[in-house]
Amino acid sequence: MISRRSFLTGVAATVAVGSLAACGKKNNGTGGGKTVTLGFSQVGSESGWRSANTTSIKDAAGAAGINLKFSDAQQKQENQIQAIRDYITQKVDVISFSPVVSSGWDTVLKEAKAAKIPVILTDRQVDADASLWVSLVGSDFEAEGERAAHLLEKVLGQSSGPVNIAVLEGTTGSAPATQRAAGFKKVMDASHPEWKIVASQTGNFTRDGGKQVMAAFLQSHPEANVLFAHNDDMALGAIQSIQAAGRKPGTDIKIVSIDGVHDGFVAMTQGQINAIAECNPLLGPQLMDTVKKVLAKQSVEKWIKTQESDFLAADAASALPNRKY
Ligand code: AHR
Repeated sequence: MISRRSFLTGVAATVAVGSLAACGKKNNGTGGGKTVTLGFSQVGSESGWRSANTTSIKDAAGAAGINLKFSDAQQKQENQIQAIRDYITQKVDVISFSPVVSSGWDTVLKEAKAAKIPVILTDRQVDADASLWVSLVGSDFEAEGERAAHLLEKVLGQSSGPVNIAVLEGTTGSAPATQRAAGFKKVMDASHPEWKIVASQTGNFTRDGGKQVMAAFLQSHPEANVLFAHNDDMALGAIQSIQAAGRKPGTDIKIVSIDGVHDGFVAMTQGQINAIAECNPLLGPQLMDTVKKVLAKQSVEKWIKTQESDFLAADAASALPNRKY
C-alpha cells in the first residue's frame, strides 16, 4: 500500500511536478504540433501477465499517437535505473516504469525531477518520497492477498483437518510479493488460527521458478496440502512438479493463485487450479490517458486503481471465452 507518509506528501507532489512539466516543456499531450515521447522501462518478460502488460502498453501508445521508447530490464533494478537515466539524457517528455523492487529509487527519481521530467509509475509501487512521482496506475496488491485468502476459505468450504500451506512468493523486495503476503497473512491472523504456513520461498514470478521451488517443497514438506502462489505462472510450474511427484494438483494440493492469465484459466477448467484472484495487466490505455493529462497540466489521482474480479474453478469454463489476456 502507499504509505501514509506518501499520501501526505502526494497532493503537493502532483502540483509541483505538474507545474514543472508545464514550464519546462512546450508540449501538452499530442496537441501543439509536437508528438509526445514516453520512455517506459518494463520489469522484464517473466510471466504471462507481463507479456499482456507489455502488449497493452505498446498498443495503447500506438492508438494514442504517443512515441514510445520501450526497454526491458530483465528483472534487474540496475537496468531500470540505466534506462531511466538514458530517457533523461534523451529529454523524453514523460518517464514511466514498473519498478522491479520497491526500494532504491530516490536518487534516479531526483535526477528526473531535476530534469523537469514527470514520472508515472505503473503496476508496482516504490518506497520513495511521493513528491518524486506524479501518479501510480496499478493494482492494490494487499487487497489481492486478502482476496486470495478469502478464495481459499471458499475452496476449503466445510472440510476439516490440517491446512498446511506452501507459499510461492513473487520477486523478493517487489511490491506485489510483499503486499500479497501481507494481505494473505492479515486474513489468516484475523480469522484462521488453524491455517499454518509450512513453507514459503520465492519463485521469482516465473514458471520455472515455481516448478523448481515446488519440487523442493514436496520433498521437505510432504504435509503441504495447499499452495498459495503469488502468480499463475508459478502455480503452473508447480503443477508440473506436483504431477511428477504422483500427486493430483487441485485435489491432493488445493491451489489458489493471482493474475488470471489465459493458461491459469485453462488450468482452472481442468480442476488443477482451484481459484484465482485477478490482477489486471491491461494498464496501457489508463497510462496513456494519464500521460496526456499530466502534460496538459490537468489533475490526476495519486493512485489510479485497477478494477479486478475473483474466480473459482466452477466459473472458469464460462469466463474463459471472454478473457482478454
Ligand atoms: O506486478 C505484477 C506481477 O508481476 C504479476 O502478478 C506477475 O505475474 C508479474 O510478474
